[in-house]
Amino acid sequence: MEINTRLYLGDCKEIIKKIPDNSIDLIFTSPPYADQRKNTYGGVHPDKYVEWFLPISNELLRVLKPTGTFILNIKEKVTEGERSTYVMELILAMRRQGWFWTEEFIWHKKNSYPGKWPNRFRDSWERLLQFNRDKKFAMYQDEVMVPMGDWAKTRLRKLSETDKRRDDSRVGSGFGKNISNWVNRDKAYPSNVLHLATECSNKKHSAAFPEELPEWFIKLFTKPGDIVLDPFMGSGTTNIVAQKLKRNSIGIEIVKEYYNMVCEQIEPVKLVLFEPKENYGKAKSNRRVALR
Ligand SMILES: C[S@@+](CC[C@H](N)C(=O)[O-])C[C@H]1O[C@@H](n2cnc3c(N)ncnc32)[C@H](O)[C@@H]1O
Repeated sequence: MEINTRLYLGDCKEIIKKIPDNSIDLIFTSPPYADQRKNTYGGVHPDKYVEWFLPISNELLRVLKPTGTFILNIKEKVTEGERSTYVMELILAMRRQGWFWTEEFIWHKKNSYPGKWPNRFRDSWERLLQFNRDKKFAMYQDEVMVPMGDWAKTRLRKLSETDKRRDDSRVGSGFGKNISNWVNRDKAYPSNVLHLATECSNKKHSAAFPEELPEWFIKLFTKPGDIVLDPFMGSGTTNIVAQKLKRNSIGIEIVKEYYNMVCEQIEPVKLVLFEPKENYGKAKSNRRVALR
């Protein structure tokens, strides 16, 4: 079977218009965070961010399948000692646009640099906002299960009476649980916090995310043969991982140098074998070496 990777050079606001309605299974992207990197690939002023992003998210809403998911990796910057509010404003505006704000994942950057600031500590996390068109969407939770770890030896060894029945959250969070269901199991479902190191070796793009980030979400929200879109492709991390995981993908990048770099690394059509049930393992790569 063929896996196609289509790459486009240009402004995603225009290029997305070429993509048919209801055709994408997962949008995974990290747009410029306001004008944080204006010296490398430009940016948008925080006050104009929502206005700039909404026409793009409107197109994304059109191309996403009703069962699809949009993951937006973003973090508000600090301006004159205060956190900007444009991410919060964006969430509210996207809800008004018709998106359902399902979840917020946190990427904990395990290796952020130490430092000393007079009014805050080092910034060690980013948001991954999950938006959907509908409350019902495709999700393959078993693909991202994690080892049970020490819980099996400690907390799960001695269960209280409450642990043996479904205990609805007393604060109404919706996270009711029956802890006894997890006795004698090797694996559990993960939390919504991902502990990953930042990407340090991709010298050709200043804001590349680690491959494990799109890998986790691609496994969780798509199956082999599905279509993934990254409208702010950068060094092509999403598309490279998508191809390794046997997903079709589309990447859009406005800077020619980055676009050319990705074109050199990705074969537009790859023939792959589809096995009925496969252990994809971790997407290992030697591309970072090639980039240096
Ligand atoms: C945060 S970076 C993405 C990095 C990427 N996730 C990676 O791993 O390399 C954002 C990218 O979006 C590109 N970009 C900015 N505005 C764009 C637009 N309107 N259309 C397409 N790409 C754009 C920038 O040139 C930059 O490469």
